[in-house]
Amino acid sequence: MTTTAVRLTALRRVHRDVTALDGVDLDFRTGSFTAVMGPSGSGKSTLLQCAAGLDRPTGGRVEVDGTDLGGLSERRLTLLRRERIGFVFQAFNLLPSLTAAQNVALPLRLAGRRPSRSEVRAVLARVGLADRAGHRPAELSGGQQQRVALARALITRPAVLFGDEPTGALDTTTSRDVLRMLRELVDREGQTIIMVTHDPVAASYADRVVFLVDGRVTGELAAPTAERVAGRMAGLESLERAAC
Ligand SMILES: Nc1ncnc2c1ncn2[C@@H]1O[C@H](COP(=O)(O)OP(=O)(O)O)[C@@H](O)[C@H]1O
Ligand SMILES: [Mg+2]
Repeated sequence: MTTTAVRLTALRRVHRDVTALDGVDLDFRTGSFTAVMGPSGSGKSTLLQCAAGLDRPTGGRVEVDGTDLGGLSERRLTLLRRERIGFVFQAFNLLPSLTAAQNVALPLRLAGRRPSRSEVRAVLARVGLADRAGHRPAELSGGQQQRVALARALITRPAVLFGDEPTGALDTTTSRDVLRMLRELVDREGQTIIMVTHDPVAASYADRVVFLVDGRVTGELAAPTAERVAGRMAGLESLERAAC
């Protein structure tokens, strides 16, 4: 059994002349919840996209669930992404013409499987939406839409769930509901979660916070509280101002 869900080694990503990631080494333990924070443009989204196999690094290595993504063909990478990785975004990215149940079933359909109604119901129940299966996104609140997106990400039972500011578009109360749900997935089911956020309260739901500045890891905080995270972020931002 692997105890490291994701391992990044000397990870680099250069977009034309912009170095978005400049040698990142990080391990994410199976069953842990990590928040990634840093100023705007520090490379958080690039890190997530590389770790999730959505973007190819310029250098270094990404291992997910024991597999080196660099060694995979596009086809194999697509399959691994489909089967082992879940991703939720700030914009929920649901298909408006499909019901919640149809949106949730989509990844399995894309994988050529015919999902059973009970399978879809079960994952909707896990996010507290058993009674909304027939609703379309426009008939759901923002928090409910994000929970549908979460169910869609979870239906393949991914080794890792990635979130890029998953609560960024939600109001405070709804954010807290989604964060509590993420925390429960980790505590009850051993789900591995890696989440980018700029919100210290959101980060406090994680087991660990990793801070990025200019594409490098500048520090970590274990058992974070919102106050300590906010203090660290204020320090990073004033450092940045001093450098300008
Ligand atoms: N596709 C791209 N082409 C060119 N530059 C990019 C691209 N994606 C990101 N960047 C640059 O890489 C850096 C890191 O971006 P990003 O990972 O989106 O940061 P964050 O999510 O922390 O705001 C920024 O300077 C950004 O402008
Ligand atoms: Mg970003």
